[in-house]
Amino acid sequence: MVFRPKVLVLTLVSLTFVRFRSLLRCLIRRTICRNILVAGEMSHLVEHGFQLMKQGAEAKLYSGVYLEKPAIVKERFSKAYRHSILDSTITKERTKSEAKALLKSQLCDIRTPTLYFVDYQNGRIYMEHVLNSVTVKEYIVDINNKTDENNEDDGYMTLLKRLTDKIGTVLAMMHRNNIIHGDLTTSNMLLAKPEELDPKEYDGPDNGEIVMLDFGLSRVDNSAEDKGVDLYVLERALISTHSTLPHMFENILQVYQAQNKGQSKDVLIKLEEIRLRGRKRTMVG
Ligand SMILES: Nc1ncnc2c1ncn2[C@@H]1O[C@H](COP(=O)(O)OP(=O)(O)OP(=O)(O)O)[C@@H](O)[C@H]1O
Ligand SMILES: [Mg+2]
Repeated sequence: MVFRPKVLVLTLVSLTFVRFRSLLRCLIRRTICRNILVAGEMSHLVEHGFQLMKQGAEAKLYSGVYLEKPAIVKERFSKAYRHSILDSTITKERTKSEAKALLKSQLCDIRTPTLYFVDYQNGRIYMEHVLNSVTVKEYIVDINNKTDENNEDDGYMTLLKRLTDKIGTVLAMMHRNNIIHGDLTTSNMLLAKPEELDPKEYDGPDNGEIVMLDFGLSRVDNSAEDKGVDLYVLERALISTHSTLPHMFENILQVYQAQNKGQSKDVLIKLEEIRLRGRKRTMVG
C-alpha cells in the first residue's frame, strides 16, 4: 500500500470536523432540553400547589402538601458562575449530604424535618414543613427588641440561658454521633413546637425545641478538628449576627462540655487552635 500523507491529513481534518459538529450538536441539544425541562419542572411544582416560600443563598424553598402532609421542597438552583458539570456535581453532593444527615439525625433522636422524598436529578428534597416555628435568629432578635438595652432583666436572661442550653445539648448530641453540620448559624435552627405536644397547648417559641436545618455541607466524621471547626463557625456567626450578646457562645460551650464529656476536651483544644489560626490570619491580613 502506498503511503499518501495528503489523504491522511484530509481524513484527520474531516474526522475532527465531524467530531466537532456532533459535539456542538450535543451541546445545543442539551441546552435546549435543559431549558424545556426547567420550565416544565417549575410548572410541575406549582401545578401541584407548591408556592415559593423563601429564597436562600443556595436554594428555593416551596411550601405545599406532599402525601397529604404539610411539606417543603428545597430546590437547589444552578449557579451561573459555576461550570455546568461542576455545578451539577456540587448540587448532587449537597442534596445527598442533606438527605443522609436528615436520616441519620432522626435515627439519633436529633430533631430535624422528616425526610419524605429525594429527587437527585433535580436537586430537590421533599421534607416535613415544621409548622409553629421561628428561626432561632428571629427569636433572638425578637426578644432582644422587647428588652430595653440598659435593662437586661432576669426574664430575658432566663430565656437566653434556656435557649443556649438547648443549643448546647443538640450540638453535643450531634457531635457524639459524629454528625458535623458544616454551617451552624442561627438561621439554620428553628424553635418549634415539641412534636408530642398538642398545638393548642403550645404557647410559643419560649418553650420550643430546637430543630436543625440545612445539612448540605454536613458529613459524618469523628475528627476533633472538624467538630472544632463546626463550633468555630457557630461562634463567628453569633458574633456577626448577635454582637450584643457576647455570653451566648460561652453558655453553649458550657453545656456542650457537660453533655459531651468523653470528647469535648479534644474538641475544645482544637477550637482554641482554630481561633488562634483565625486571629493570625486577621493580623496578617
Ligand atoms: N422544613 C422546614 N420547615 C420550616 N421552615 C423551613 C424548613 N426548611 C427551611 N425552612 C426555612 O427556610 C429557610 C432557608 O432554608 P435553608 O437554610 O435550608 O436554605 P438555604 O438556601 O441554605 O438558605 P440560607 O442561605 O438562608 O441558609 C430557613 O432559615 C427556615 O426559615
Ligand atoms: Mg440556611
